[in-house]
Amino acid sequence: MGLIASSLNRERVRKMEAVIQPAERIRGTIRVPGDKSISHRAVILGAVSEGETEIKGFLRADDCLSTIRLFHQMGVRIEGEGTDLTVHGVGLRGLQEPAEVLDVGNSGTTIRLVAGLLSGQSFFSVLTGDASIRRRPMGRITQPLQIMGARVFGRQGGTLAPLAIAGGSLRAAEHVLPVASAQVKSALLLAGLLAAGETSVEEPALSRDHTERLLAYLGGRLRREGNRVFIAGGQRLWARPLWIPGDISSAAFFLVAAALVPGSDLVVENLGLNPTRSGILEVLAAMGADLEVRGEELVSGEPVGTIRIRHSRLRGIRIGGSLIPRLIDELPVLAVAAALAQGETIIEDAQELRVKESDRISAIAQGLTALGAKVSPKEDGLIIQGVEHLRGARVEAFGDHRIAMALAVAGLAAQEETILQGAEAVSISYPDFFPTLSRVAQ
Ligand code: S3P
Repeated sequence: MGLIASSLNRERVRKMEAVIQPAERIRGTIRVPGDKSISHRAVILGAVSEGETEIKGFLRADDCLSTIRLFHQMGVRIEGEGTDLTVHGVGLRGLQEPAEVLDVGNSGTTIRLVAGLLSGQSFFSVLTGDASIRRRPMGRITQPLQIMGARVFGRQGGTLAPLAIAGGSLRAAEHVLPVASAQVKSALLLAGLLAAGETSVEEPALSRDHTERLLAYLGGRLRREGNRVFIAGGQRLWARPLWIPGDISSAAFFLVAAALVPGSDLVVENLGLNPTRSGILEVLAAMGADLEVRGEELVSGEPVGTIRIRHSRLRGIRIGGSLIPRLIDELPVLAVAAALAQGETIIEDAQELRVKESDRISAIAQGLTALGAKVSPKEDGLIIQGVEHLRGARVEAFGDHRIAMALAVAGLAAQEETILQGAEAVSISYPDFFPTLSRVAQ
């Protein structure tokens, strides 16, 4: 039985411990919540468009609710229930100076994208977030924004939040990014939209392109040359209805669970299949997963389809290079797949994992090791020797939603009960993760 229980311990911060029983099989048809990256962008770009953006499939989870809260503070009306939302756009120059500090909670996407947008406004603002956000690198946005003339300040020479932004006029720049990061690229494209002249952003490998797609969908003009994207300042955006597909990063936990647990057969419908996000499907296929993709169509500028996955024996693989940005958020759960695959898996070129919501290399290595996996962390990734079985253990999420869900999947595939501490972290991107898991884990 894949029964999942949770015990709530109401202290000052609500802590949750999840008890995960080994699953006999994973079966059923599910839909996962709306894409987190697209949900943030829908609110941000909807807010600065002209007209009302009607959104369907919005991700109502802590991170995206932080983005909504920020735009409320800047005078944007956003209303709706459940996954339907209406954003009353105010145009690129219609935001109001927030009277209070803007708190992004745990959301890196919010702080980085909004910092780009606020650099070109005519008012002062301060952005901060939780302890994890205040540890994460911000120099990667403040430095290129300063080149555009932005007056952005922060702790440690502008490299850490809180960030203070004295908005003003910006000039276009040609940026060459040292790391492939959609958050940095998007921050600079938003600043570019407000700058005089044409801004370009080149990345070493293509990162998720949701900002580019949504800008184009809302009437923005951009052009791309290889890994370089150009945007001219002074454009306006026009509201259009928007359907957000299921988040492949949330589906990833179920895909890996079904691949690992014998007797599994799972269908995930209405899933975003953007090629800049679907690296996990290529990796699972190369590891020998029994995977089928069908019914692909374009919805609001994003590819969407259905995936069926059945259990099969997986084998180890090498994961690195330009594939990394296309599956960066799925690496913790792919490490779980590798822990039970035949042979060795090497994950390399993934040093970015060290500066996510937690140090994900160390967090997943600790959790998997406790469960009996053979994992060696390295500076830019992990080396994993597959084992036949995982054992139950007490593991820790380190305040990181994706570590929590990856270790829950490991627990399902383990031989005894696993106790996951800090399971409440799932509310950042997937509040219904445990109920959905209970439904398909038998
Ligand atoms: C995101 C980009 C990625 C990803 C994050 C969401 C986005 O971060 O890890 O979960 O929505 O743009 P980086 O841009 O730092 O790689």
